[in-house]
Amino acid sequence: MNSPRSVRVRALAKINLDLRVLGKRPDGYHELRTIFQTVSLADSLEIAFTPGRKAVIELADSLAIPDNLVVRAARLALQAMHIGGRVEMRLVKRIPMGAGLGGGSSDAAAVLLALPVLAGRRLDLPALSELAQQLGSDVTFFLLGGTAVGIGRGTELFPLPDGAARSGVVVAPGVHVDTAQAYRDLSPRLTSESQENKIFSFQAQVWGRSVASPPRNDFEEVVFQQHGGLAAIKRRLLRAGASVALMTGSGSAVFGLFPDRNRISAALQSWGAPTAFRVSLVSRTRYRRMWWRALQEHTTGRTWPPQSRYAR
Ligand code: C5P
Repeated sequence: MNSPRSVRVRALAKINLDLRVLGKRPDGYHELRTIFQTVSLADSLEIAFTPGRKAVIELADSLAIPDNLVVRAARLALQAMHIGGRVEMRLVKRIPMGAGLGGGSSDAAAVLLALPVLAGRRLDLPALSELAQQLGSDVTFFLLGGTAVGIGRGTELFPLPDGAARSGVVVAPGVHVDTAQAYRDLSPRLTSESQENKIFSFQAQVWGRSVASPPRNDFEEVVFQQHGGLAAIKRRLLRAGASVALMTGSGSAVFGLFPDRNRISAALQSWGAPTAFRVSLVSRTRYRRMWWRALQEHTTGRTWPPQSRYAR
């Protein structure tokens, strides 16, 4: 009988350092300009793979999330590798759900990165990226990590260089925002005249000229209207000394980035767990190191995506 190969990986959350929605596209998705950033808040995922003819996928999930994206990710990955086998997963959620932190997407991307390594197959980045896009608009970003500009549906990615280490606070008030509904609410407000301005001021963000044009998230307008408490969180973060405070994704989490650590501790104390988390921004270098370390027993060298040592 074959014995399983297993790993435990951390699936990091993301924040959007800027997010503009330009308009609805013919395929029903919206055209975006965004800056993705991985942060240190993470779920924990254990994956074990045992070769076999039949595909069997099992998930033990601390929250029993129905139709979990990790199961779909494992099924897609097995199909793409043209193999069967038993995939046993254990997921411990720490990233709040429905909060715009990309937790489910990150968990799914973690399966796409780890399973081929355990199964001894090669799926290159374009192949993984295609699977990621089938799973959701944010999944592709977690194949890259660090700081990246996302355009189109959010799946066309342009890596930005690693920036200085920065820390902050993510406040997740427990409000679950339905992303599709948030897009529907925002859509009627999008006009073609505003597009040019948005593209211009987004560009300024990417170039780091934040004084001339502050970062923004277009969803704040609609989501803050429905959940007034979120605007209050943003104000409170700014009062606590955050240099930037912004909602992430379609909400509901709001993050603040702080110039000094003492203020972070003070802000955290005033909220307390589990609604507020200290986070640091995770660069692409750190993201890859984290992955290489987690998979080192099963990989050869430091390539990206990680390559299996069992691949023939
Ligand atoms: O791709 P994902 O499944 O994460 O998206 C959830 C929903 O959000 C989509 O069904 C779509 O309604 C909306 N969406 C959008 N434009 C995007 C991303 C998501 O309209 N760029």
